[in-house]
Amino acid sequence: MNVLFSFKQVQTFLTILVMMIFSFLDASADTSSLLIKDLGEGHCLVQINTNQRYLLLPVEEVMPDVRVSMIVNNKEVNVADVRLAVNRVDYFVPLDLSAYAGKNILLKFKLGSNDPIRGKLSAVCCKEMKLSDTFDTGNREKFRPTYHFSPLYGWMNDPNGMVYKDGEYHLFYQYNPYGSKWGNMHWGHSVSKDLVHWEHLDPAIARDTLGHIFSGSAIVDKHNSAGYGENTIVAFYTSHRNIPGGQSQVQSMAYSTDNGRTYTKYEQNPVLTPFDGLQNFRDPKVFWYEPEQKWIMIVSADKNMRFYSSANLKQWEYMSEFGEGFGPQPNQFECPDFIQLPVDGDRTRMKWVMIVNINPGFVYGGSGTMYFTGDFDGHQFVCDTKPEVVKWLDWGKDHYATVTWSDAPDNRRIAIAWMSNWQYANDVPTSQYRSPNSVPRDLSLFTVDGETYLQSAPSPELLKLRDVSKKRSFKVNGTRIIKDMIAGNEGAYEIELTIENQHADVIGFRLYNDKGEEVDMQYDMKEKKFSMDRRKSGDVGFNENFPMLTWTAIESGKDELKLRLFVDKSSVEAFGDGGRFVMTNQVFPSEPYNHISFYSKGGAYKVDSFVVYKLKK
Ligand code: FRU
Repeated sequence: MNVLFSFKQVQTFLTILVMMIFSFLDASADTSSLLIKDLGEGHCLVQINTNQRYLLLPVEEVMPDVRVSMIVNNKEVNVADVRLAVNRVDYFVPLDLSAYAGKNILLKFKLGSNDPIRGKLSAVCCKEMKLSDTFDTGNREKFRPTYHFSPLYGWMNDPNGMVYKDGEYHLFYQYNPYGSKWGNMHWGHSVSKDLVHWEHLDPAIARDTLGHIFSGSAIVDKHNSAGYGENTIVAFYTSHRNIPGGQSQVQSMAYSTDNGRTYTKYEQNPVLTPFDGLQNFRDPKVFWYEPEQKWIMIVSADKNMRFYSSANLKQWEYMSEFGEGFGPQPNQFECPDFIQLPVDGDRTRMKWVMIVNINPGFVYGGSGTMYFTGDFDGHQFVCDTKPEVVKWLDWGKDHYATVTWSDAPDNRRIAIAWMSNWQYANDVPTSQYRSPNSVPRDLSLFTVDGETYLQSAPSPELLKLRDVSKKRSFKVNGTRIIKDMIAGNEGAYEIELTIENQHADVIGFRLYNDKGEEVDMQYDMKEKKFSMDRRKSGDVGFNENFPMLTWTAIESGKDELKLRLFVDKSSVEAFGDGGRFVMTNQVFPSEPYNHISFYSKGGAYKVDSFVVYKLKK
């Protein structure tokens, strides 16, 4: 024991010594060098002096994280947790060195004390690590969607800080640039002029000493409330850190005067801490409350949403809270949004909608999006239903962290969701990236028997993606295979169906491939249900929570059924009656679903119109 202890002491001393020697080396002496010293016991030193842009780090996903700390001029300039390869390389991740060209850069790798790979780091990682001017983000994964947003590479979860400004939709998102599993939370960034074609930009807000950059929102500061200039984009996010015995979550602010391209963090962050030391206190949603000319922030606080107000976006005052006891129990509230919408399109009847993402607590397990409708007087939200009433925005398993764009034109409320579920998001069978977003959806309110519901319709911009189409109409009595309708579409298509029921109890259809993998969808006309069954959809074995049939009630008294299906390599999104019910599910077929068959039970039905559109990339 004693011997080991002194060995460690010597080692630490050596580490410091080598670091000091490295840092005093003349930067101009060697223009491109990579010197790796494995010091054993999980310590490794890498000295880099290069004009090349990246150091490519090899990753093996099953390995534990190694803390990689980057030191320039004796200062730690970056930290990243990377699952460094020990036995084999699954993929590489880039460490951007461009800001330090020609300087001595030191990397220190540090393992946790109980890691099984202590002392073995040199194995593959040190051999495979390399300098490069480029990083290949080539899209070679067969499951990568063609028209849904997905990150260039690496892990993505919640959409964040969505804001529209000067003709651009900004999409920020929870992003790990150092691996395809959750970690190193940054705000990734993309922009689009039409919600369907996206340009990838560099990550906008990087993890820092206050912690990971968790979810949040962004606004255009029209009245220069924060003092950084009119129309500055101001972003709010949670700074998350693990601390002894728990976690710290506080709200921080950053602003951008160049249309979101670069952000400056507010030097006095955080702007809001929980008054009661709450550990789950995150995902700030900020919006302008016109009647009282003030900013409001909603923060998810365990099983509540807390409301704060501010005049200058920097000082926040507590107003009220809503949620405890509402919705399914147990639950954990996350990612709030709060929007006002006309009821049945009538702008004289406005209602507030509180969007609450919960994890766990979703009806089919894991994470899902629910909402409450009600009134808001600028201080307190009053829900118009009883606590036990649960309304889901989407009835599929892969629809989470749904939030809307601030400042979208024409009073539109456009939402987008992360198309995965925390139960298995880290296990889905992709590796170069994980996971995509849903298609964008326009929200509106409709009523049925005096009850108010959210409608979630595919955004009209999606029509632009339509390429060649094929149309048929036919009757179904038994089973009917409709040939050559979706075969050439490479797994990326839209189906538009109008069905007239004659006397069928079940109206069904299956998307399938030659491997016998299928997604089976049914209207049960007796039970008034729509269901989607992905239990035989392809690879379902990576997590026990994945195989599943999801269903939702449909409105009664309708004999004409309208459905739009968006299929994109590894997902199926079903929009019934213009989005009055929605179901989003991921699927991982070994080859695209190239065939469709229809079937009926208990009577016949007529497919008045079956249109298939190939969708453009
Ligand atoms: C929701 C969430 C947020 C948090 C973020 C972290 O999916 O857990 O509450 O800010 O993900 O990545």
